[in-house]
Amino acid sequence: MRKYIMVIALALVLSGCVWDKDKKISIPENNQNMENTNQANTAASYTLDDVAKHTVPTDCWLASNGKVYDVTSFVDKHPGGEKILNGCGKDMTEFFNTLHAKQSVEKLPAFYIGDLK
Ligand code: HEM
Repeated sequence: MRKYIMVIALALVLSGCVWDKDKKISIPENNQNMENTNQANTAASYTLDDVAKHTVPTDCWLASNGKVYDVTSFVDKHPGGEKILNGCGKDMTEFFNTLHAKQSVEKLPAFYIGDLK
């Protein structure tokens, strides 16, 4: 009788190992996800010439402190009205660091699309 119990116990343990093995099959999938995450974390980079191609209210990029921002969706909301259009396609670092209201610098990260080459 004890022998049968041992056999059943062994069978249960073995089935547990098989189940574990099945579980391990999901590891490559996780690696795949990690690769995707890494890709998503790789910042795009743009030259100032790239930025300079986006100069209209419906497509407005600007650069500041080595970063590039697509502020198109903010053009209509800008408290300073159409003046924001003066900055489309340009490196506005000097302006943001000195003249412009601090609130703009706080808002900029929401529009980040990549780094300036
Ligand atoms: C790059 C070209 C830009 C120019 C020439 C510009 C110009 C101005 C001006 C003249 C004002 C003052 C409006 C007033 O109080 O009468 C203003 C306000 C403001 N701008 Fe801009 N702006 C630019 C870009 C941006 C961007 C990209 C953001 C944010 C992502 C931004 C956010 C703001 C905010 C939050 C205010 C209100 C500040 C306050 O109430 O003290 N601006 N802007």
